[in-house]
Amino acid sequence: MHIITLTTQKGGAGKTTLATALAVAAQEAGETAVMLDLDPQRSLLTWAETRTGDAPHVEAFPADKIAQLPTMVRRLASSFSVAILDTAGADNTATHKAMEAATLCVVPLRPTRLDVNAVRPTVQAILRGGTPFAFVLNQCPPQPNNSRAAEMAAGLAAIGSLAEPIIIQRADYQDAYAVGQGVTEYAPNGKAADEARRLWRWVAKQSKGTAS
Ligand SMILES: Nc1ncnc2c1ncn2[C@@H]1O[C@H](COP(=O)(O)OP(=O)(O)OP(=O)(O)O)[C@@H](O)[C@H]1O
Ligand SMILES: [Mg+2]
Repeated sequence: MHIITLTTQKGGAGKTTLATALAVAAQEAGETAVMLDLDPQRSLLTWAETRTGDAPHVEAFPADKIAQLPTMVRRLASSFSVAILDTAGADNTATHKAMEAATLCVVPLRPTRLDVNAVRPTVQAILRGGTPFAFVLNQCPPQPNNSRAAEMAAGLAAIGSLAEPIIIQRADYQDAYAVGQGVTEYAPNGKAADEARRLWRWVAKQSKGTAS
């Protein structure tokens, strides 16, 4: 089972947005996806409430039950091939447990110095737990040949693995969330949908080595 944890202490980097895009893209690629919302903000559950249709299945994960997370994820493996865990933008026990349970941690960040600085404690925590991880550059400016994003991409690739493709700031991501869809459902032929499908393929390939 692929267990993908979206994590960074930096708020607003795109954890929930990419979680929904990835889960729906995975489902469309033939996987059976389940999502766990570990964020008290409940952004993922709100998306699921707006959504019509059953898949991907979305569950809350109460903070007081966090010790049971590994057991619950093992139980889910009998019914689902992919679990996507959305965490809060905070350094807390739930986030650490979700990082440890993952086959791959996905760390979104925007291409700014503030975001790069803010991601350090998250990377240190992941490294302590020993889970493989990858950065995803998100909300990149749409200009072609954007030198800032390219510089950032090169710097991040030197620290750790950088997922492909980089994700551009596009209204489709915001509009898809608002109607409870993934971008691949909202605008299947759009550029955001293409990014989401490619990102899922990249993430699945990276996670494969550690998935059981
Ligand atoms: N690629 C993108 N293009 C356009 N807007 C985006 C993109 N990614 C995220 N956003 C927007 O950025 C904001 C923050 O995204 P999101 O809520 O997914 O981040 P988060 O990391 O889950 O935040 P939090 O830490 O609060 O849980 C939202 O308004 C979302 O619509
Ligand atoms: Mg969120």
